[in-house]
Amino acid sequence: MQLKSLFTSESFYLSKILYFKTLLTKINIHETAFVTASFRMGDVALSKDRYAYLWSKSSIDIHAERYSTAVSSYEPYAHCLRNRYFYDTINELMNKNKIEVLINFGCGFSMYPYLLENSLDYIEIDKSDVVTHKKEMTTKWEREGKLPRRKITYLEADFNLRSQDKLYEQVIALKNGRKSFILLEGVLFFLSKDDTKRLFKLFDRIQEPDEYLGSVSFLPQLEKQLVFKKLIDYVESNLEKNKRFQYQTVAEKFYRNLKNYELMNHEDTFSLSARYEPKRFLPKEEVLNEHMYLLKKTSIQ
Ligand SMILES: C[S@@+](CC[C@H](N)C(=O)[O-])C[C@H]1O[C@@H](n2cnc3c(N)ncnc32)[C@H](O)[C@@H]1O
Repeated sequence: MQLKSLFTSESFYLSKILYFKTLLTKINIHETAFVTASFRMGDVALSKDRYAYLWSKSSIDIHAERYSTAVSSYEPYAHCLRNRYFYDTINELMNKNKIEVLINFGCGFSMYPYLLENSLDYIEIDKSDVVTHKKEMTTKWEREGKLPRRKITYLEADFNLRSQDKLYEQVIALKNGRKSFILLEGVLFFLSKDDTKRLFKLFDRIQEPDEYLGSVSFLPQLEKQLVFKKLIDYVESNLEKNKRFQYQTVAEKFYRNLKNYELMNHEDTFSLSARYEPKRFLPKEEVLNEHMYLLKKTSIQ
């Protein structure tokens, strides 16, 4: 009995030490991908990400929980809504035979290839740490039968690089003239304005008329809200940043004026909440409102 209580109290203190060690460790930009996966795990019926749990680990789940407490308790919900919106949008375009390849820039640990049908081809692009780990784990889980088999190519990239010619060549060869949906989700906050312009030029080079582009960003107006200041405070003390980090927000006119593209749809956390959970109340001041844009490349160049 005595031994048992000693063991219990020791493991209690060990777990506390581990917990506080986790709190003191900063996470890298690429590790934010684990945090968003952890959020999607919170409401699978809404997010549709039934495989997010595979990425779960206690150190990251602690960060995700701590982030929600410090910044906004609505963050897990907002991330589930975002995933659901793109899941439904891509599904619909796929069913109408409007897309053949999904190209996810800054894919992190999102699981669209496994949530959507096998009829699409998938190109997953991110920093080398992310794609190396993602490829290794998904290959293992496919072998073990935890994930269905999919046609996925993983590409390493750094969107901070001045030249994206190598990435262009790789994507063009894989795309092979097929109709694409490019997704840029949860990435723009981490990039500079120049990196962003370069990336959208790359999208324009990759895509042909009538192909689709989905992008997510915050509006500049959000910068005045307390919830955004809380986000910055959190990032300052908990994230290893690089020199390019400017807490980027993007005005709607950037998308409206994007050369060769037409804005087809614009949603935000509130409109998606009204669509998917109409009875749920969202307090305006406490939500880190994200905006989702759906664009289509125009036929007249
Ligand atoms: C918050 S996560 C979002 C991941 C995923 N799109 C999602 O919604 O769950 C941000 C992702 O952007 C990637 N990223 C950030 N800066 C990048 C850069 N300069 N080059 C390539 N990937 C980058 C990170 O590695 C990370 O996977």
